[in-house]
Amino acid sequence: MNPILVIGATGTVGRQVVSRMAAMGAPVRAMARNPGAARLPPQVEVVRGDLTLPETLDGCFDGIDTVFLVWTAPPTAVAPSLERIMKHARRIVYLSAPLKTAHPLFQQPNPLRAMFEQIERLIETSGLQWTFLRPGMFAANALNWWAPQIRAGDVVRWPYLAAPTAPIDERDIAAAAVCALCEDGHSGAEYVLTGPQSLSQFDQVSAIGRVIGRSLRIEEISPDEARRELLTIGPLVAVNMLLAAWAAAIGQPAHVTSTVEEITGAPAKTFLDWATNNAAKFRA
Ligand SMILES: NC(=O)c1ccc[n+]([C@@H]2O[C@H](COP(=O)([O-])OP(=O)(O)OC[C@H]3O[C@@H](n4cnc5c(N)ncnc54)[C@H](OP(=O)(O)O)[C@@H]3O)[C@@H](O)[C@H]2O)c1
Repeated sequence: MNPILVIGATGTVGRQVVSRMAAMGAPVRAMARNPGAARLPPQVEVVRGDLTLPETLDGCFDGIDTVFLVWTAPPTAVAPSLERIMKHARRIVYLSAPLKTAHPLFQQPNPLRAMFEQIERLIETSGLQWTFLRPGMFAANALNWWAPQIRAGDVVRWPYLAAPTAPIDERDIAAAAVCALCEDGHSGAEYVLTGPQSLSQFDQVSAIGRVIGRSLRIEEISPDEARRELLTIGPLVAVNMLLAAWAAAIGQPAHVTSTVEEITGAPAKTFLDWATNNAAKFRA
C-alpha cells in the first residue's frame, strides 16, 4: 500500500487521522507548513507543504495515490492548489461540513460556504474517486469556547444555552476518515457525521464540570454581550455565524445520525467520553 497523504495533519482532525493510521501500522505521510513543530508520532514521515504556495505541493505527492484534505487556507488558494492535488492523486477524502442537511443549525449564512462549495465542485468534476465527510459541530470547539473561562474560574458566560447540538468527537471523524481512505466502497459517498446525542450547550458545559469535579455557574448572556465578549474565540464574522446558528437551533433537537457506527462499526463517542479524554485541558 502506498502512503496516504494527510493535509491538515497537525490540526484537530488530521492529527487523529495520522495517529490512527500510525497505530494501525499503515503508511502515512503528514504535510505541515512547519514540520519541525508538527509533534506527530516519530515513525510518521512529515513533509513541508503550504496550500498557499502550490509549487510546494508537488514534492509531497511522490508515490501518493490517496489524500485526506482539511482546508483552512484562504479562498484565493483553492483553484491553484486543488489543480496540483488533482494532478497527483487518484482518491481524495475531503473534510467538509453538513452543507446539504436541512436542519436550521447548518443552514444559516456562512461567509465560507461559497469556498466549501467551490472545493466540492472542483473535486466532483475532477475524475478522482472522492468521499466527503460532513461533520456537525466538533466537541473540540469546547476547548476554544469554554476552556479559558473554566480554567480562570467557576463562571461560564455564554449565549443561547438552550441551543442543542450533537457534538462529535474528533476521534470518530478520524475513524470514519480512515475507513474512507483505506477501504473500497466509499467512492461518491457524502457522510453526515454527528455525535450520538442532542445536548444543549448548558448540558455540555455541565458535563465538563462533572468530569473535572467542579460546580460551574453557567450564566446566559445576550447575543449583544456575546458579540462584545466572545471575540477571543474568533473574528466578529465567525461569532455572528455561530450566534445565528444557535438562535435558529433553539426549540428542536439537534440532527443526530448513526453514520459513525455504520462506517466504523463502533458507536459514536458521547460528549462525556470526549470531556473525560480532554479533562486536563479544562483544569487550571
Ligand atoms: N469546528 C467545527 O465545529 C467544524 C464543523 C464542521 C466542519 N468543520 C471544518 O473542519 C475544518 C477544520 O478542521 P480542523 O479543526 O481539524 O482544523 P484545524 O485544527 O484548524 O487545523 C488546520 C490544519 O490546516 C493546516 N493548514 C492551515 N493553513 C494551511 C496552509 N496554508 N497550507 C497547509 N496546511 C495548512 C494546519 O497545519 P499547519 O499549521 O501545521 O501547517 C492544520 O494542520 C474546516 O474546514 C472547518 O470548516 C469544522
